Amino acid sequence: MEKEDLTLLVTGGAGFIGSNFIRTALEARPLWRIVNLDALTYAGNPGNLRDLPAMASSRHTFVHGDIRDGALVDHLFEEHHFDGVIHFAAESHVDRSILGPEAFVETNVVGTFRLLESSLRFWESAGRPRGFRFLHVSTDEVYGSLGPEGYFTEETPYDPSSPYSASKAASDHFVRAYYRTYGLPTVVTNCTNNYGPYQFPEKLIPLMILNILEEKPLPVYGDGLHVRDWLYVVDHCEALVTVLERGLPGETYNIGGGEEKTNIDMVHLLCDIVDERRGRNSGEAESRKLVRFVTDRPGHDRRYAISISKIREALGWSPRYSLREALSRTVDWYLQHMDWVEQVRTGEYRKWIGRNYEDR
Ligand code: NAD
Ligand code: DAU
Repeated sequence: MEKEDLTLLVTGGAGFIGSNFIRTALEARPLWRIVNLDALTYAGNPGNLRDLPAMASSRHTFVHGDIRDGALVDHLFEEHHFDGVIHFAAESHVDRSILGPEAFVETNVVGTFRLLESSLRFWESAGRPRGFRFLHVSTDEVYGSLGPEGYFTEETPYDPSSPYSASKAASDHFVRAYYRTYGLPTVVTNCTNNYGPYQFPEKLIPLMILNILEEKPLPVYGDGLHVRDWLYVVDHCEALVTVLERGLPGETYNIGGGEEKTNIDMVHLLCDIVDERRGRNSGEAESRKLVRFVTDRPGHDRRYAISISKIREALGWSPRYSLREALSRTVDWYLQHMDWVEQVRTGEYRKWIGRNYEDR
């Protein structure tokens, strides 16, 4: 992008990665302003941005609304003349997509389509500015499952397994089609599994940390030998800042941590870190005794692993954090934020939303 004082539309900025992105971006780029459009589904929580420092919070505006509401998004474009869009808003949990796929089609496919339409209307009316970017934040799950060898590249054919990954694949196709057909300067990123502060405790890592702390069973799907590549959320957010500033329209960039682990090894590692933090001797393998192998997830992809050669060579990004260091930070964050956990679990934060955002 050519300018430094950007005004950006972030969708889904009250969720896990979106809120981390807003914090990272506003701290790293003191001239950026962000309008954060979020429908506040069960996964969205404005409290995720409560710790924004004052120098950043004055440049953040929260709007409670749905990306499918084209009139609202058009209005936001008219009001703010955005230099770009970073699109996080989605239904993001694979297990929920198996139980109820329709919400995934609605938000991930229809919502992305409506956002593209509004972006295109604005971009054309503004004289097709070259520096505009529509950055679509997507997942490595669109590529399907790998065998024991090899890596996803940007050329790997799409082969999604779950309703979640199918809906993300559909949205990626729409985003690319708007570049090829209308010239809208879009960029797609496909990233591996994230972890870090503010992740909703339905996902593997926070679920396991909290269950270990509460000495509840640790449900590991199938044989526990499914492999994921883990990336600390701050690294992902820094990659997105890089792609927004330097990524080329029409391109796709894969993002990953280079930290492959089987689920059972990950759960054992978390047991050891938590035991260590609580002064238990990890040699006694206290928490590991809580592991329970449970019925597998249908359509469960066996292995994800991604090549980051393109983003490293073209844009100079690679992750800064090692898995061990960032997992320890993440465990510490949950230990220090049990109030957040309680709010998220009890629905107390919804009352907080009512008190703080009822007029928006
Ligand atoms: P999340 O579920 O924590 O947050 C999603 C946010 O989107 C929530 O704040 C929610 O309120 C909002 N939202 C949902 N539907 C909306 C709608 N119709 N209109 C406006 N807002 C709506 O998700 P996340 O884990 O932060 O993931 C963010 C994005 O990154 C998603 O697009 C996901 O596919 C992608 N992604 C996630 C990961 C991961 O490991 N979590 C990895 C790669 C890519
Ligand atoms: O790869 C990127 C994707 O990572 C993102 O696109 C998704 O939005 C994000 O949710 C994540 O998907 P996964 O399905 O990989 O994440 P999840 O945390 O649900 O599960 C990680 C692995 O752990 C997966 O192999 C399933 C397994 N698992 C999960 C849960 C919740 C268990 O064994 N037990 C569990 O209780």
